[in-house]
Amino acid sequence: TIVILDFGSQYTQLIARRIREFNVFSVVIPCTTPLEKILALDPRGIILSGGPSSVYDADAPAADPAILEQNLPVLGICYGLQFIAHHLGGKVVPSDRREYGHAEVEILAENQLFRGLPQNIDVWMSHGDEAQTLPEGFTRTAQTSNALAGIANEDARIWAVQFHPEVAHTRQGMELLKNFCLDICGAEPNWTPEHFIQTTVERVRAQVGNGHAICGLSGGVDSSVAAVLVARAIGDRLTCIFVNNGVLRKDEFYKVQKTMREQLGLNVVAVDAAQRFLDKLAGITDPERKRKIIGNEFIAVFDDEAKKIFEAEKSSGEEVAWLVQGTLYPDVIESSSVHGPSHTIKSHHNVGGLPEDMKLKLIEPLRDLFKDEVRRIGRDLGMPADIIDRQPFPGPGLAVRILGEVTPERVAILQEADEIVVDEIKKAGLYKKVWQSFAVLLPVKSVGVMGDQRTYANTCAIRAVESEDGMTADWAPLPYEVLRTISSRIVSEVRGINRVVYDITSKPPGTIEWE
Ligand code: XMP
Repeated sequence: TIVILDFGSQYTQLIARRIREFNVFSVVIPCTTPLEKILALDPRGIILSGGPSSVYDADAPAADPAILEQNLPVLGICYGLQFIAHHLGGKVVPSDRREYGHAEVEILAENQLFRGLPQNIDVWMSHGDEAQTLPEGFTRTAQTSNALAGIANEDARIWAVQFHPEVAHTRQGMELLKNFCLDICGAEPNWTPEHFIQTTVERVRAQVGNGHAICGLSGGVDSSVAAVLVARAIGDRLTCIFVNNGVLRKDEFYKVQKTMREQLGLNVVAVDAAQRFLDKLAGITDPERKRKIIGNEFIAVFDDEAKKIFEAEKSSGEEVAWLVQGTLYPDVIESSSVHGPSHTIKSHHNVGGLPEDMKLKLIEPLRDLFKDEVRRIGRDLGMPADIIDRQPFPGPGLAVRILGEVTPERVAILQEADEIVVDEIKKAGLYKKVWQSFAVLLPVKSVGVMGDQRTYANTCAIRAVESEDGMTADWAPLPYEVLRTISSRIVSEVRGINRVVYDITSKPPGTIEWE
């Protein structure tokens, strides 16, 4: 394991992802984690991340400086370099020339960290402070035209760089991280999908013993992969609950059930609660109220089903003791971060609402994984591409893509339009290239003309965005031909829509969904 101490940089998670790309396991923990806890992780090396503060700020995040004296290899990045310089007796000062963005770095001395790199490398910088005096035993290993870019004390096994090797703009960044993790730390590149699947299946099997588990399926990647993994461990003792909330995509309720049962061999209880949800949504136009209603109703339906399963197992002398959730690593990191934006784990709807007497214990088989790793695992588990490569779909479903009131008629109209968008985007080979692509039904009617007839019908907006993680996004420059086909198919095939527009707003300032 390579342990990354998080000083609050927006790039910290990226360090872990990069290292895992060459199959070395790495974890992100708050910089304030006590030394014993860090050592208990049995690290082969420590990375000190960047951070937004200055080492002199009153509330500057600090790690136990004893971490620098464990004879473990240490790599400091950006703030990490300043932390090392400051705590080992050097001097860090505000720089009169701040550096942000691209810079060219010259490597001054061959050392283990820079092995195999050219003498000049393009890097990504983002800092205002600079180490002016180096601690004893340290040498300057790299510089830009205006500032220090790297230091090292190879005897003490400490290296540090002022730039960010984890971002793609630092072209040789991966080489540098590999040099540190594989050569300097001697970490084993054994973090592979097979290894993960095998150890997870064994662990879940041991944990659950003869018990039973339930799992809420959404049809998306995370819950499906979590379910398949757990089913590998305990087979039919996992029951998956899949709810039709009335705002799923066209035919999705049937298609997802079929795939889950027939292709993945899961034990699925499908609950058609569409009417229940749509009744509650009648007359509601406020987006947040729609979300609340769907969230609460989901919990109610899930509870009812879980109770039935619970009672049935109990009468046969068994008990459902476990609840499977598809929590991912970014949620785990964010909720344990001491200085990052305060953030509670996303309300994975099914937790809080379960009856006390059920006392379900959680199984979160994906809590060590990033999204791209979940996809790798899914592929290795033999799951079909149409599940693994699915674009994200919001929990409140089409309800947040129908502006204004959600009625069964409007759901049906949007389902038709949505199906055409997905179909054409797939035909054009763009489905995996864009982050999300979908239709939005607007509460706007306009005049049109179809075959000599005047029409007065709904407007549909097409939204397609490119994004890395959904936090920021840009509208996708879809080819005109694709837009043309989508538009003419929707207007001619979907009754109730006579006009199609394309949303060209990025996030920020827009959001991806319209509500
Ligand atoms: P926004 O619209 O905030 O969306 O830019 C960012 C990402 O989150 C998804 N999204 C949701 N997912 N429940 C969910 O499970 C929600 O209420 C919700 N709202 C937005 C959205 O599809 C995008 O991927």
